[in-house]
Amino acid sequence: MTIQYEPMSPGAWKDPYPIYQELREKAPLHRGPESGIYCLSRHEDVAFALRNAQIFSSRGMQEVLFDRGGMRPGLRDLPALARFFIRARVNPLRRNAQGGGLIGTDPPEHDALRSVVNRGFTPRRVAAWEPRMREIAAAHVGALEADEAFDVVRDLAIPLPVTVIAEMLGVQGERMRDFKRWSDAIVSAATGTKRDAGLAGMLDPMGEMRQYMASIIPERRRNPKDDLISVLVDPRHEDTLDEDQVFGFIVLLLVAGNETTTNLIGNATVTLLDHPAELEHVQADPALVPQMVEEVLRYDTPVHLLFRSTTQEVELSGGKLPAGAQVAVILASANRDPRVFDDPDRFDVTRTSNTHIAFGFGVHFCLGASLARLEAKVAMEALVPHLPKRRRSSEELDYIDSFLVRGPRSLELIVSA
Ligand code: HEM
Repeated sequence: MTIQYEPMSPGAWKDPYPIYQELREKAPLHRGPESGIYCLSRHEDVAFALRNAQIFSSRGMQEVLFDRGGMRPGLRDLPALARFFIRARVNPLRRNAQGGGLIGTDPPEHDALRSVVNRGFTPRRVAAWEPRMREIAAAHVGALEADEAFDVVRDLAIPLPVTVIAEMLGVQGERMRDFKRWSDAIVSAATGTKRDAGLAGMLDPMGEMRQYMASIIPERRRNPKDDLISVLVDPRHEDTLDEDQVFGFIVLLLVAGNETTTNLIGNATVTLLDHPAELEHVQADPALVPQMVEEVLRYDTPVHLLFRSTTQEVELSGGKLPAGAQVAVILASANRDPRVFDDPDRFDVTRTSNTHIAFGFGVHFCLGASLARLEAKVAMEALVPHLPKRRRSSEELDYIDSFLVRGPRSLELIVSA
């Protein structure tokens, strides 16, 4: 029987791992029957694609996420386009020189952009946030200490990364709630089941955000502060970002940075509760937390897939890909490939050789990897001591509406009887 897998369909969201195994074994160069998108599922092929940006272009991110189906502008989108134009005072369909921004651009344009944004994420800058992260986490786990109901997603996994990124950007506290609303709406409109509803779901939050940012960006250029936006527009550097680029980068930070870290913390909690012996290990030896976080990144990868498009014909382990093919690169499948990981479906917090590719690989390797690792470590150190006396309020898990990122939408913990 042929495999019916479609990378952008919700069919396998609940438990995608059996289908990934089937793809790796039987169809390592599967082609989505409706979308025509090729799917790479073996670690070797996924790593090859990410390593060879000249053959596997990141323009595929833009092409698949925004230039297909419901995301193509049509007559029904005119009101949303008009609203965006009025709020943001720019044409939403205008593409700047870099087209897809940092994540959708290839070298050498990508490298120029990346060297500017790297300034904001140096190891020193990231490490300096640890005390503040601990403060935020401690303030949020108060309900756990008081034995009250606690939703890990709502009460910790969402507020920690959103607060950190908003404070890093220098955004006013009262707009933080809007930041989360904008980022949820963008992820859902671009990668969720409402994708076919058209551009409005995406343009409305982007327009509101752009309107807010329009006042902040020029202000920081005139009066730089000690925040991320100031670093990006600092006039003392020759290569700074223009307003479109800063805006595109902030949207990327919100979406790539918040949703993913929230899901990592949510997935870590679900996985530990489902594996009491592993939870006991971590409880007995809290120094295992960073290693446990790496194992969760492998075992329940927050970003399931990326897209690329081929610039030439290329031979992979499963066969030949033509030039101009759109390709889904399934990180979550690569991270369970038995050719690379012993007993890959086992969650093992003491696993030592863990070459997962949850943060990607090569030129686009996640800019925020060390920030995400630190946030997850801080969050799990605060949570783990409370987990043995808690259980999920419901057996059923509701996953967020996205084919791209995976994590529980909510995760209420109650005190075990
Ligand atoms: C668990 C959390 C995270 C995961 C799993 C994750 C995953 C990824 C992956 C797989 C990529 C590669 C994209 C590609 O090759 O096309 C990526 C890129 C990126 N990530 Fe993350 N990410 C996380 C957290 C963060 C955070 C906290 C930030 C920033 C605050 C961030 C910012 C970015 C940016 C800006 C890029 C684009 C880099 C480039 O194109 O050069 N990410 N991330």
